[in-house]
Amino acid sequence: MKNFINLKDITSKDLRKIILDAKKRKNKRAKLSTLDTDRDIPLKNKLLIQMFEKNSLRTRLSFYLAIKQLGGSALTLRPDEIHLKNGNEPLSDIAKIISSYADIFILRTDDEKKIKLLKENLKIPLINGLSPDSHPAQIISDIFTIEEIKKKPISNLNICWVGDSNNVLNSLMEASVKFSFKLNIACPKDYSPNKSIFKWCKKNNSKIKIFHNAKKGVVNADVILTDKVISMNDKVKKLKKIKKFKNFKINKSLIKFAKKDCIILHCLPRGNEISDQVFNSKKCKVWQQASNRVCVQKSIILFCLNKLR
Ligand code: CP
Ligand code: NVA
Repeated sequence: MKNFINLKDITSKDLRKIILDAKKRKNKRAKLSTLDTDRDIPLKNKLLIQMFEKNSLRTRLSFYLAIKQLGGSALTLRPDEIHLKNGNEPLSDIAKIISSYADIFILRTDDEKKIKLLKENLKIPLINGLSPDSHPAQIISDIFTIEEIKKKPISNLNICWVGDSNNVLNSLMEASVKFSFKLNIACPKDYSPNKSIFKWCKKNNSKIKIFHNAKKGVVNADVILTDKVISMNDKVKKLKKIKKFKNFKINKSLIKFAKKDCIILHCLPRGNEISDQVFNSKKCKVWQQASNRVCVQKSIILFCLNKLR
């Protein structure tokens, strides 16, 4: 069994296998309905339990559909309906119980320590469904979408991130090493990328460049990605932060500096970091991006259970 916690801890070969498997599975489902299982039914009668300590629409639904399409079932927990939130049961005990009932566990949390504790105590694979430091399932799926639209390996494309230095960017930086693609990061000086992840990337031959001017960052971009300036439970002075990002909004005048056929991705939900005009334009591929998460989650689950073909 394998965990899916941070992209930096998974080999490039395995990450590529996940994308290839997702592609094959997506192609084979063209005529199937939402709840039809994939023909090979690889996870018949397996149970996925997922718990969300923070809100989620896409991640919870896509993992639900993913396990159903693989032939298994899903149960979604909230921390306030078990004994975790009121402190009446240690997470280490909960991990042991979950291990004896389920085959795979997904956690979305605000606390990196919980991921570590679960990793140590679960006897089944753990998937990180978003933590303060990482959103690996989002980024692997976004790479799938980019290659699907651009019909080229991501290593041949110029990727640009415009926005906050958050969990999604951390996973994107790690991915830039694993998939060897050029990544420009455009962000205000006071909101520069996570130092230790940036250091790890540099040590591992990353092709990352940081810009504190959005226009310079997007020059020649094939793909621009962004995310909310204020993430869930972001404990910052919101107004001050939003002001600092004033010149980092994805709007028509900014994307003029990118390649003509540049596409825009956003993990969603969105805030004011993207104009309605760009969001509603043909360049913005967020619906395809979100729907692809189902087929990529399937291959992530299969990877964790050593079932990738
Ligand atoms: N992009 C993403 O993870 O969406 P949710 O927060 O709705 O799961
Ligand atoms: N950075 C965002 C991503 C949401 C999917 C957050 O953590 O809230």
